[in-house]
Amino acid sequence: MESANHGHHVGVDDKRTIRIAAAGDVHASEAHRERVESAFAEIDGEADLILLAGDVTTQGDPEEARVLADACEGLRTPVYAVLGNHDHHLGRGHEVADALRSAGVLVLDRDWAIAEVESVDVGIVGAKGFVGGFAGSSLPDFGEPLLREVYAETTAETDAIGDGLKAVAHCPLRIVLLHYAPVEGTLEGEPPGIWTYLGCARLGIPIAEHLPDLVLHGHAHAGRFESSIAETPVYNVAVQVTGRDFYVFELEATPGRSEVEVDAPPA
Ligand SMILES: [Fe+2]
Ligand SMILES: [Fe+2]
Repeated sequence: MESANHGHHVGVDDKRTIRIAAAGDVHASEAHRERVESAFAEIDGEADLILLAGDVTTQGDPEEARVLADACEGLRTPVYAVLGNHDHHLGRGHEVADALRSAGVLVLDRDWAIAEVESVDVGIVGAKGFVGGFAGSSLPDFGEPLLREVYAETTAETDAIGDGLKAVAHCPLRIVLLHYAPVEGTLEGEPPGIWTYLGCARLGIPIAEHLPDLVLHGHAHAGRFESSIAETPVYNVAVQVTGRDFYVFELEATPGRSEVEVDAPPA
């Protein structure tokens, strides 16, 4: 029986479609300025949020980040980003992040944010992730301090993902944005010998625990688009994989409920 509550019903009418435009591995540089600027200009207003899954630059030069920042400056659509390994290559990751932030990009580094889209709170947990591998080829927490430091770095990334997912647990839509892969499925196509450096199964532990609505990563240029961790869909949105400037995900959200709809995966 329906209750005698004649107030507001949560039903089909309350559904909102939230469009997430995602791209990883843009690898911006002066040589690609025109392409980058037109790609961002075209997506502006076609999506509710733009998410960038790291490797925003070619080799981590803040001048390259400036190219992306110029493309983002003045967009109506909020842009969220994590950095990738290329963005750290010159040891100037902070300057890369600052260049993006100066254009209004929200750079998430082991952090989280909540974007309000059409009255729906979208929780976004952002971390670069790191290496470590998967069952059968995983880096152990043993031996030389340098190797154990690598292990500890991945632990810190994993913990931040878990903390972020706790912080946004109340959001009807929850997205995890990474650079490195948290699952093997999206690495298929890459030589198995380098999977250990393309991601780590440990990054997937808090994802399996909290089951966000959508997980996005990049880094594996030759990997596969689609995989999952339990019921959570995981997508490798590297532009080299999607074959387009942005892949647009449509997420249906109602208060307390959400589902993700995805077009046919890229050929
Ligand atoms: Fe890349
Ligand atoms: Fe990368």
